[in-house]
Amino acid sequence: MNVLILGSGGREHAMAWKIAQSPRLTKLFIAPGNAGTAHCGTNLSIGTEDFPAIKQAVLEHDIELVVVGPEVPLVAGIHDFFLADGQLRDIPVIGPTKKGAMLEGSKDFAKEFMVKYNIPTAAYKSFSTKTLAKGYRFLRTLQPPYVLKADGLAAGKGVLILNDLDEARKELREMLSGKFGKAGSTVVIEEFLSGIECSVFVLTDGSDYLILPEAKDYKRIGEGDTGLNTGGMGAVSPVPFADSVFMEKVESRIVKPTIEGLKKEGIFYRGFIFLGLIKVNGEPIVIEYNARMGDPETEVVMPRIKNDFLEVLAACGKGDLKSQKIVTDERTVCTVMMVAGGYPGEYEKGKPITGFEKVESSIVFHAGTKNSGDKIVSNGGRVLAVSSYGTSMAEALKSSYKNIGLLEFEGRYWRRDIGADLL
Ligand code: AMP
Ligand code: GLY
Repeated sequence: MNVLILGSGGREHAMAWKIAQSPRLTKLFIAPGNAGTAHCGTNLSIGTEDFPAIKQAVLEHDIELVVVGPEVPLVAGIHDFFLADGQLRDIPVIGPTKKGAMLEGSKDFAKEFMVKYNIPTAAYKSFSTKTLAKGYRFLRTLQPPYVLKADGLAAGKGVLILNDLDEARKELREMLSGKFGKAGSTVVIEEFLSGIECSVFVLTDGSDYLILPEAKDYKRIGEGDTGLNTGGMGAVSPVPFADSVFMEKVESRIVKPTIEGLKKEGIFYRGFIFLGLIKVNGEPIVIEYNARMGDPETEVVMPRIKNDFLEVLAACGKGDLKSQKIVTDERTVCTVMMVAGGYPGEYEKGKPITGFEKVESSIVFHAGTKNSGDKIVSNGGRVLAVSSYGTSMAEALKSSYKNIGLLEFEGRYWRRDIGADLL
């Protein structure tokens, strides 16, 4: 089977690494990929939103399955584009249609969906420029901190948590006047929840579903969860507090009603659902949905799946997921992200990276890297994710920290406290 993965981050390298191990694979292509994915298959220099070029590549390389990594092409309707094209219609795409991707692409849509299907989530109200005064009034009824969310995609920057009422009013006004462009033309204001977060991943073919290993992500740049939000600085799986009692609640109260709700809405959803959850007094509550896998969570989830993952994805693509069962590696996997100095603010690219040959007993997933002559150079804010197995979390972390120190580039930075809160 020939497979095309869309995307260029650590998530896509981890998927490519896993799919490349499948005996069912003939040829693997990654568009656009990075220096790491080039070792798992062939990179195609095509952007993930260039649908006509993707079509040409799919036909030229006889692609039989497309796996979509990031949210932007999903929200832009890549799956709908395939369904509407006579030559592409029968080629399965793993990733929801545009309507399904609204679970991530519109926070207002996701909140309304959760309320309609009784899925636990924070209380909220949505506002637009026309209802700014109502927004101010609603803020006054809440206790700080105030949670403001731009409705649309804002590359992970659209959520603000503010302690001061005046500041919240000012931010609401600025968001509605275009601080995040069109993404902020509607703003969701919601109740602040205090608890511990984890991510649960579901793969669905539209009627059946599988729950993949859960993970905990570390989002802030600084140690002790301080400083600016990033795409994610590290992850661990399994998550000790996501015990079987908690996971049963997640399945019955969130996963099942989500799949049922999508069906009732007539939304064709074939792909990953990422549940961003918070555990409050033992109960799971949804913070957000994403229409894709997480990054860097995928860098710990893929190594824990023992199945031939291509077989699972192919079954999903045929609507035959009920034939599959996920077999999970009992070991812990952690990943530590090495980022460019300055990230998530301004940072430089093009720094040569050395030390790959010294790494032992860790898997180095590439995020922002590219080949430049005979060198591998940095090409993004998040550069490498160093994943390791361990019979305990402490052992997995020890291995990642030993190996990450062997990889060098100018300005490199990583958090030294991934998983420390769980030990
Ligand atoms: P999101 O982009 O929706 O994942 O939000 C980013 C982060 O903001 C989440 O990972 C949470 O840490 C935090 N957050 C979002 N919504 C809430 C909420 N209602 N209460 C507390 N924290 C929240
Ligand atoms: N690591 C969080 C995300 O992928 O959205």
